[in-house]
Amino acid sequence: MPLPTLPTLPKQVKIVEVGPRDGLQNEKETIPAEVKIELVNRLSQAGFANIEAASFVSPKWVPQMATSADVMAAIARKPGVVYSALVPNMQGFEAALAANADEVVIFGSASEAFSQKNINCTIAESIERFREVAQAAKRHKLRLRGSISCSFGCPYQGEVSPASVVDVVQRLRDLGCDEIDIADTIGVGTPRKVQHVLRSVAQEFPMTQLSGHFHDTYGQALANIYASLEVGIAIFHSSVAGLGGCPYAKGATGNVASEDVLYLMHGLGIATGIDLDAVVDAGQFISRHLGRKAVSRAGNAIAAKRAAV
Ligand code: HMG
Ligand code: MG
Repeated sequence: MPLPTLPTLPKQVKIVEVGPRDGLQNEKETIPAEVKIELVNRLSQAGFANIEAASFVSPKWVPQMATSADVMAAIARKPGVVYSALVPNMQGFEAALAANADEVVIFGSASEAFSQKNINCTIAESIERFREVAQAAKRHKLRLRGSISCSFGCPYQGEVSPASVVDVVQRLRDLGCDEIDIADTIGVGTPRKVQHVLRSVAQEFPMTQLSGHFHDTYGQALANIYASLEVGIAIFHSSVAGLGGCPYAKGATGNVASEDVLYLMHGLGIATGIDLDAVVDAGQFISRHLGRKAVSRAGNAIAAKRAAV
């Protein structure tokens, strides 16, 4: 009897490293710019083609990102690598432009309650702010990415309907986003729900330009990534050493660890162009600085194996 057919998976994926931004933004102790710079450089050397390196938001809201301009000014830019920056408004856009960001990220939410807490406005108001940013990005020929928080649940309002995610996808598409992130800010999604939301939004925006941004709070991130691969997603966000959390989503833990995602992809025979060993080194570097163990199962296993030799 022939073996049962398996779902077709993408042959290669883009992994966007968000550790220097999403990962570090929630750290209480100020991390010196030099450490952030070395982290970004290690990540570009490891082979990431897209690194979220900065966030031009109010320093009163997110103090840790106040050194973003210093970081962007001093990193060793590797040709071909896209260095992205979050921008909530025109003030942020001007700063990102001055810092030579290659891509700006406008970040909205599928939850009204989260939109208020995170960026102090309604979803509709945020889209109006983003319109100006989007036009400016196009004028300056910068890549434009849109991110949608709370696509699978919200820390303040609970349930978030797939229809509200589709609605924000339509609005970001109409602003001209090149890529849209479907983000599980608090890590509550499970595989079938994730597939349902992704298939729903893919009616409105190409699956190949959608990305999965999963936090691992409930331990579902790798399962959700595999489920996303099954429906054709080929862009994922991850954080070296599993760093992170969102300052406006209490209890939200880090993004899925880059080392774990790379171990999964390489095990599946999916090309990433990234050197897992070098990412493990970068994870050990930042964990040493933060004075705690990396939150990466694969990263820690590889480090332990090295130490045992
Ligand atoms: P606001 O207080 O309503 O803004 O905040 P405002 O326009 O009234 O300005 C107030 C002050 O902020 C003024 O300064 C402005 O100059 C300053 P003051 O006169 O009081 O001295 N300001 C800025 N400063 C620097 N850069 C700017 C900027 N804009 C205003 N761009 C605002 C509105 C959006 C600014 C604020 O709510 C904010 O900065 N929020 C950012 C929150 C944030 O960064 N959250 C984390 C990132 S999102 C995330 O992690 C989720 C994601 O990973 C996906 C997922 O997992 O869900 C992307
Ligand atoms: Mg996030």
